[in-house]
Amino acid sequence: MSIRRILTVDNAADLAVLKQVSAPVEGGVTDALRALMDDMLETMYAAPGIGLAAVQVGDPRQIIVMDLGDRAGAEEGDETGQRNPRYIINPEILWASDEMASYEEGCLSVPEVFDDVERPAQVKIRYLNYAGDTVEQEADGLFAVCIQHEMDHLKGVLFIDHLSRLKRERAIKSVKKAARAA
Ligand code: NI
Repeated sequence: MSIRRILTVDNAADLAVLKQVSAPVEGGVTDALRALMDDMLETMYAAPGIGLAAVQVGDPRQIIVMDLGDRAGAEEGDETGQRNPRYIINPEILWASDEMASYEEGCLSVPEVFDDVERPAQVKIRYLNYAGDTVEQEADGLFAVCIQHEMDHLKGVLFIDHLSRLKRERAIKSVKKAARAA
């Protein structure tokens, strides 16, 4: 397994890739795809973050990894709990609630920027998992936020695209400034 470089919005070439629309994975879930997802997960844990789309490591295909820390049997905030990775390939939203919820989002491609985004509070999704099986699942709470944020990445949309132009420009400026200082 290896850690990949995460593309960020302060770099024009990276931003052009992040704006691409991801293609569906063809031919099912192969060992090569699982190896990519293992790398993505390691990259996400190292960052650290709770969700990552393949386009964020420069591979614009419909692949998402996630770990919300909702470990079965572990207390909230239990650092000794086991990891609970989720692997989501070719996701579709089957249903979204009329009820909306707001959450302060961040993104590994927009480091150190956080802002409120409003999205449907619950969604029902269908996707392929690590084994290549089709899964239908209802999501609410943080899972609903995260899956919609990551599925935006597959459409070339970043969470800052949901903000006002002023806030979006300010966000990119602050990432550029931080990159120069580093
Ligand atoms: Ni993101």
